[in-house]
Amino acid sequence: MVVFPHIVKHKGMCARFWDPDDMAKKTSGRGQRDLRVRVKSARGRKLSSTRWLERQLNDPYVKRARDEGFRGRAAYKISETDDKYRFLVPGARVVDLGCAPGGWCQVAVKRVNALGERSGKAQGRVLGIDLQEVEPIAGAEIHVLDFMEDGADDKVKAWLDGPADVVMSDMAAASSGHKQTDHLRIIALCEAAAELAFDVLDDGGTFVAKVLAGGAEGTLQAELKRRFTKVANFKPPASRSDSSEKFVVATGFRGRETE
Ligand SMILES: C[S@@+](CC[C@H](N)C(=O)[O-])C[C@H]1O[C@@H](n2cnc3c(N)ncnc32)[C@H](O)[C@@H]1O
Repeated sequence: MVVFPHIVKHKGMCARFWDPDDMAKKTSGRGQRDLRVRVKSARGRKLSSTRWLERQLNDPYVKRARDEGFRGRAAYKISETDDKYRFLVPGARVVDLGCAPGGWCQVAVKRVNALGERSGKAQGRVLGIDLQEVEPIAGAEIHVLDFMEDGADDKVKAWLDGPADVVMSDMAAASSGHKQTDHLRIIALCEAAAELAFDVLDDGGTFVAKVLAGGAEGTLQAELKRRFTKVANFKPPASRSDSSEKFVVATGFRGRETE
């Protein structure tokens, strides 16, 4: 069922992925932290790349991810969100949209007990989707797919082969360099993810998605409020303060009764 008819799906929309955190820093240039490691500019390297490198070298979450074996600092955004809302419970069936390089999947595999390592606890399932190839993650089933392609949600439903307890999306659209366009694109991704959630979530299920603050998310938020018992907007500490990124967390899916 199409809930957001204005979404235009086409191939290649997200050919060049960007991270709002990166974008925020690249455009602002105002260091909020005490940058201890300085990177000298080098011939052939753009100033924005030098800044990005400097920020990575000084980011405590980047270091922590390396030390703790996560594939990226994004892992802490979902673990902090789950610490607050508690949806990644043992036995949960999770769909992770825009999962590369795999930090969210790694967190989900552990928390839902997808490998069955915690005896006596229910074993969950993690299905990851991305435009890009992802190095295999034990306990997660990963597929390469452009989620904005026609029929993509049917493929995901077929792989899932049953209801889900959590649909989460960290999908980020290609950068156009234009703030308002980027905002609209990320909302389109979020709405497409929400449509899948409405189709596959079990009663009581949770939908989590990255959005950028910026005005166009009203329709999405209103629809989520109708379909879920609670809708919150959360900015985890791991999300950089100078990024307009936030996460919408909708819990208590009311099920098909609200269609
Ligand atoms: C911020 S990254 C996700 C990071 C991931 N949560 C992690 O923890 O490693 C955003 C991802 O969304 C993916 N993406 C963007 N548009 C997509 C689309 N239309 N279909 C599938 N994946 C998409 C990008 O390829 C990128 O890997």
